[in-house]
Amino acid sequence: MSSLPYLGVGLSYRWDLNPHLARGNPGVDWLEVTPEHFLPLTEDALQRLALLARRYPLAGHGLELSVGSDGVDAPGYMEGVRRILSTTKSAWHGDHLCFTRVGTLPLRALTPVPLTEEALEVCVRNIRRVQAELAVPFVVENIAYLFETPLDTLPEEEFLRRVVTEADCGLLLDLHNLHANAVNRRYDPYPFLDRLPLERVVQIHIAGGRTMEGLLLDSHSSCSPKEVFELLDYVVPRCPVRGVNFEMDSDFPPFPRLVEELAHARSILQRHGASKS
Ligand SMILES: [Fe+2]
Repeated sequence: MSSLPYLGVGLSYRWDLNPHLARGNPGVDWLEVTPEHFLPLTEDALQRLALLARRYPLAGHGLELSVGSDGVDAPGYMEGVRRILSTTKSAWHGDHLCFTRVGTLPLRALTPVPLTEEALEVCVRNIRRVQAELAVPFVVENIAYLFETPLDTLPEEEFLRRVVTEADCGLLLDLHNLHANAVNRRYDPYPFLDRLPLERVVQIHIAGGRTMEGLLLDSHSSCSPKEVFELLDYVVPRCPVRGVNFEMDSDFPPFPRLVEELAHARSILQRHGASKS
């Protein structure tokens, strides 16, 4: 994973941002592209992706791979993702450590996998297969979740560690997901971080959420809180990160505020010499 290119600090690509990204933007180093936003694929979509790839380095970030599902992929899904990754010359591709379908039934939600030996085996098997099929490095992301399954037998950090080491893939560390879980379950995120395989971190997500009925939701609807930047400052010198990106899905502020968010993250990466690790 250390041979992967250093992308710097970027944004998750969203339609709302098009007017600010169309001609390239010096405040944005790279973009994360979600294949599901372009599926089912058309020639027009491929052309737009190719154009984007001429302006920014890109990496893929899927929603529907369903790493935790024991079964076959949705028809045509992998082929679509593969074509997008190849058109965009993606540096790597990521998806979440969760399941989004049961059999062929889509759940439309990132659902936590039971933290069991059996689920671990399924996740490892799926990631190994996906890495072989996609032919780009794969990174798996820790999710925010609001409930634990009664079946859990392993701590989340041990589950994460074993998935990435046994599947031999990278870790996409979402610091807002970690922050939200730590707030909602009242634990200290720093010892949790220390128990993760930080040497496997390829990418880091930063984001902001909102509080509803006493729970912090990972809604991607605000700028990152200070706790997320503090976690970033802690983790960057401890991992070989290749790219950080800010995820936002709604309630976009004026674009210069997003550039400011990236500049803040970039200053942390530069202070720790991240591009050289
Ligand atoms: Fe994320």
